[in-house]
Formats: sequence, C-alpha cells, structure tokens
Amino acid sequence: MAHSPISILSQLDFNGEPLTDELLMKTFHQLMEEHGYVLMCNVPDEFDPVRFCRRLGRFVPNYTGAVVGDVRPEPGMDDVYHAGNTRPLTPHSEGYDFAVLPPRYIALWCVTPASGPGGETTLADTRPWVEAMSPEERRTFETNAYDWKTTEGVQRLGLDLKTRHPILEENEQGLVVRFSCNNLIRDDDDPAAELQKRWHTAFDNEHVAVEYGEKDMLVWDNWRLLHARNAFSDRSRHLRRIQIAA
Ligand SMILES: [Fe+2]
Repeated sequence: MAHSPISILSQLDFNGEPLTDELLMKTFHQLMEEHGYVLMCNVPDEFDPVRFCRRLGRFVPNYTGAVVGDVRPEPGMDDVYHAGNTRPLTPHSEGYDFAVLPPRYIALWCVTPASGPGGETTLADTRPWVEAMSPEERRTFETNAYDWKTTEGVQRLGLDLKTRHPILEENEQGLVVRFSCNNLIRDDDDPAAELQKRWHTAFDNEHVAVEYGEKDMLVWDNWRLLHARNAFSDRSRHLRRIQIAA
C-alpha cells in the first residue's frame, strides 16, 4: 500500500515569499535527518536545482558521464530493465555496481510530469529493518561479500560493471545499505535470497509514493532508503537527476 510522503518542504513561506537560502538549507537538513528524504514543492522559477545540489556535496557523474542526467523514455530501451523506459523498477539502492562508495544523495526534479496514472517514485526507509535484525544476522550481511552486476539497460550502454561488496557496510559517516532485487548474485539457499524477499515485501507495505508536479524536487539519502518506480504510460514524462557523493 502506498502512503503519502510526509517530509515535504515548501520553498514558499506562508506569505508566498521564497524562504531564505539559510532557512531552506536548515529545514532541508532537519527533514533529511528525520526521514531520509525531502520533497520540495512550491518551487519558484528562480530556483536553481544544480546550485542547490552543489551545496550538498561533490557530484558523481551518471553512467553516461553526464553530470545532470535525463530520466525519460529512451528509444530502443523498452525491452530491458532500465530507468529510461516506462516500466516499473523494483526496490534498489543506487550505485551498488560502483567500485567506490555509492552516492550519498540522489536528487530528481521534474521537468514534465506524467499525465495519467503512474510514474511515481517510491521510497522506503531501511533503518527500522536493519534495526530489527538480530546481531548475528547483521554480522552475516556485514561480512558476506556478494557479486553485483549492472542492469541490462546500463549493459546496453556498453558498460558491464561487476563489483563485490557486502549488503551492509559501516564507515565513518554511517551505515551504507546496498540492495537490488535482481542484480545481486547469490544462490537460492543464500540468506540474501530470504532478505530480498523480506525487504521487497516490507517495501510494498511501507513505501511512500511521490507524485511530481512541475519543478518539484525530491532528494533522498541513498545509503539509507530504497527507491523504485511505478510504471506509467505518458512518454513525455521527464525528470532530471544528480548523484551526490558523501
Ligand atoms: Fe534507481
């Protein structure tokens, strides 16, 4: 069942005036800390999403090398698992296929909303799921390293990424969660198979669904939250995307 997002930041105040940069940043970080994501709405024309993201950290290029990526249906990609089509995506973290740490934040903002149903970005917080693990189970997923592959869509771009990481990785800045329903390589009797099933079900039950209006911007903590997407039919849906390092 989908819930409505609750971590929403209006860029305009009660008088319809833009928040000061300082207040915007302060509330943004408070909401991010609490919920692991922030949906910014009432975005004024003057707002510069790239400038805002620069204040969060260093940019991590998208797979193509483009720093600001486009998320929209691409020609010839309808038959694969890929963000660049209209099909659903299963819950995952971004960058499990990177050799380096995954991006800390993902920012998506809406150029053209999808008309008609679908196209929501869905999000769920892994923090309570990790906290519910027994110490033994947590140790298992911190210790067992798995091979990860990249999506078919990215392979078709000519990149065949293969990495090896645990699902849970503690570092100085916190816990990094890596997760995929389809690109984590494991045997059917591996504990990761049961975790995939459990977290997929938890995601289906607990996720919030973000429906974009024009210029709305969503940012989430990719070390903590999983994301997915609902299918849609309007091929003019267009988001832009920046990945930000820790
Ligand atoms: Fe993704």
